Amino acid sequence: MLRKVLTSALLLALFGVVGATLVAITYSATAERIEANHREALLKRLNALVPPTSYDNDMVSDTIRIDDPELNPKRHPATVYRARRMGRPEAAVFSVVAPDGYNGAIQLLVAIRHDGTLIGVRVVSHHETPGLGDNIEERKSEWIHGFDGRSLTNPPEERWKVKKDGGVFDQFTGATITPRAVVKAVYKTLKYFDRHRREIFARQAKQMEIEHGQSAVHRDHP
Ligand SMILES: Cc1cc2nc3c(=O)[nH]c(=O)nc-3n(C[C@H](O)[C@H](O)[C@H](O)COP(=O)(O)O)c2cc1C
Repeated sequence: MLRKVLTSALLLALFGVVGATLVAITYSATAERIEANHREALLKRLNALVPPTSYDNDMVSDTIRIDDPELNPKRHPATVYRARRMGRPEAAVFSVVAPDGYNGAIQLLVAIRHDGTLIGVRVVSHHETPGLGDNIEERKSEWIHGFDGRSLTNPPEERWKVKKDGGVFDQFTGATITPRAVVKAVYKTLKYFDRHRREIFARQAKQMEIEHGQSAVHRDHP
C-alpha cells in the first residue's frame, strides 16, 4: 500500500517537474518571439519616418529616455530614437505624449532632422472620438502631413496654432481640441530639440523595453 502511494506521489512530482519545464521553455521562446516582433514593428514605424538609407546605426537600441518637465509637464517620460550615419547625427525620433487631447493622452512620434526641420509626425495611440478627433490618424486624413518640413521658424512661433487660434494648421469640423493638442506637443518637441540637440545625441544609450511596437494606430476608448 505504502509502495503504491509513494509511486503515485513520485509520478505526480515527475509530471509536475516536466510540466513546469515545458511551460518555462515555451514562455522563454514566446517572450523572445514577442520581443523580436515588437522590435520589428517599431523599426517599421521609425523607418516610415526616417528612411533606412539615411542612417547606419541600430536606431531601436540607440535610445535615451527624457523625463523633463520642459518637454512634458505631466511627466510622461519621452523616448528618443537616434539615427546616425558614420557616427554623425542624422535625425531624432521623439516618442512624446500630447497630454491635453479631448479624451486625454495622445501618443506621438515626432521625427526631426539634425538641422531642426521636421521629417514628419505620426499618431501611435489616442482616445479621441471617432469621426471627430481621429482625423489625426494618417489612415483617416492627410492632416498629420501638414507638419512635414516644418520647423521652429516655419511657421513663426505665433502661427504654430490651429487656424481658429490664428495659426496655420487646420482644425477639424467640430473638433478643435484634438488638433490643438497635437500642434502644441509638436512645437514643444521642436523647441526642446533646438535647446538640447547636442546633449540629446551625446547621451549614452540605455537598454530599454521596446515600446510602441503595434503595427497600427491603437485607439482605446475610456
Ligand atoms: C461627445 C463629444 C465628443 C467630442 N469629441 C471630440 C474630440 O475627440 N476632439 C475634439 O477636438 N473635439 C471633440 N468634441 C468637441 C469639443 O467639445 C469642442 O466643441 C470642439 O473641439 C471645439 O473646441 P473649441 O471650442 O475649443 O474650438 C466632442 C464633443 C462631444 C459632445
